Amino acid sequence: ASTRAFVRALPKVELHVHLVGSADVDTVLALARRHPEAGVPTDRAELERFYAFRDFDHFLAVYWAVQSMIRGRDDVRALVTGLAARLAGQNVRYAEVTVTPYNHLLDGVPGDELLTGLTEGRAEALADHGVELAWCFDIPGEKGVVAGRETLVFALRDRPDGLVSFGLGGPEVGVGRAQFAPFFTAAREAGLHSVPHAGETTGPATIWSALHDLGAERVGHGTSCTADPRLLEHLAGHRVPLEVCPTSNVRTRQVRSLAEHPVRRMLDHGVVVTLNTDDPPMFGTTLEDEYVAVADALGLLPAEVAGLARNAVEASFLPGGRKAELL
Ligand code: HPA
Ligand code: ZN
Repeated sequence: ASTRAFVRALPKVELHVHLVGSADVDTVLALARRHPEAGVPTDRAELERFYAFRDFDHFLAVYWAVQSMIRGRDDVRALVTGLAARLAGQNVRYAEVTVTPYNHLLDGVPGDELLTGLTEGRAEALADHGVELAWCFDIPGEKGVVAGRETLVFALRDRPDGLVSFGLGGPEVGVGRAQFAPFFTAAREAGLHSVPHAGETTGPATIWSALHDLGAERVGHGTSCTADPRLLEHLAGHRVPLEVCPTSNVRTRQVRSLAEHPVRRMLDHGVVVTLNTDDPPMFGTTLEDEYVAVADALGLLPAEVAGLARNAVEASFLPGGRKAELL
């Protein structure tokens, strides 16, 4: 109980949370009643079973079903303001939120409605909840280079306020990182930061590729880095932060339990670890829960827990002055 109080009081930032995956249960149930064709349960207990994932691919199928119910500006804005309200309740002051424009465009959401929903929601998040949001636009890797090109074009054309980074998500198996190198190069030249997922469901070679081919400044997950001592040394030496999502990895069955999560070894090797939720209601977690769970599983001292929160502030793409306010 005292750990939770300590964690709640810490000013926190979140660096890895997907907008669609942040939809709370009531929102998803309401959407499911409006869109029965999506195949998402309309009943609370059934939705809980729907969120019991057999493996990572099953998780993605569920995620895409929820995503398909987002149809326009008001849906997008509601996701953003709902997320902001829940972040504010945990003393999360700033978040970098991943949005996958190409998938929403394929689902028929007009691009201008997506942008308006994000921008209006972001303004409301700040005004009503005091939470500052930034955006990461990411490529759905399974859709190949066409998705890379379209995501880049969409990101650079109207460049919404708060867009800070460019990412790559979806499955890793059979989806090489290197094919997306040209889009990451162009995004970085335009001033966006590089934050691909890597090493969530595949080995250390994917993380090396994210670093070398995509210029990754942080790595989404990076779970498998502990399998390669040279990579651990590289990440620690170059201070490349990892966006670790412990409960996500357990719930998608990439890791057996929190106790067995490689976060312990990452920390022991001096890697800059940040804690994140990925898709909080889908994984039955909150950012506060992640800090409490890791503190308990690893037996961390309060100063070490505070150090993790500080890592996230420092690893964020906030301007230096804003970082100082949160440290
Ligand atoms: N990895 C890849 N794609 C995703 C994830 C994730 O953790 N969450 C939502 N889309
Ligand atoms: Zn993710």
